[in-house]
Amino acid sequence: MSQSHDTPFSYRKDATVFLVGFMGAGKTTVGRALAEYLEYDFFDLDELIEARAAKSVQAIFAELGEAEFRRLEHDAIRSCANLSRAVIALGGGAYVSEENRTLLRTIGRTVWLDCPLEVCLRRISGDQSRPLLGDQNEMRELLGERRAAYARANYIVHTGELSPEELVIEITTLLNS
Ligand code: S3P
Repeated sequence: MSQSHDTPFSYRKDATVFLVGFMGAGKTTVGRALAEYLEYDFFDLDELIEARAAKSVQAIFAELGEAEFRRLEHDAIRSCANLSRAVIALGGGAYVSEENRTLLRTIGRTVWLDCPLEVCLRRISGDQSRPLLGDQNEMRELLGERRAAYARANYIVHTGELSPEELVIEITTLLNS
């Protein structure tokens, strides 16, 4: 685990924690466990988008297109600004946009769950609900394009095969450092 050079010194200790990372990195599972441990509320950004649009992510992509999904995603992040004591799992593309990164930096702290591609693929293969899911080469390419953006998170945790409980300890150690 490590602390990125981008980490500002001024975050409130209870500032919202955003989990960043590729599809299948475990953002939702770890996020729930982290929220429970910290006694924070947990939100999944994709679920917030779905509730606000009254459509599934899949339907938003199919009917409105990815650009509209990204606009809804940005609005959903903006709607998180007033939360406190919250953990939020971002979608895998949310931290790619510089505009979102700038916004997130003003709202809370970000943690990249850097998960090996093979582990992500094992978890998401065959999942029909992820519109951007492709074959192994496409996923490797997409992750390759995104890694530099993910690395801008305030904190980085190399998940390996660690359990959610072990990751919660790693993350809270970083957040308290
Ligand atoms: C996306 C990841 C998904 C969801 C949407 C787009 C992406 O979230 O936001 O399908 O661009 O990687 P998960 O990372 O939770 O699968």
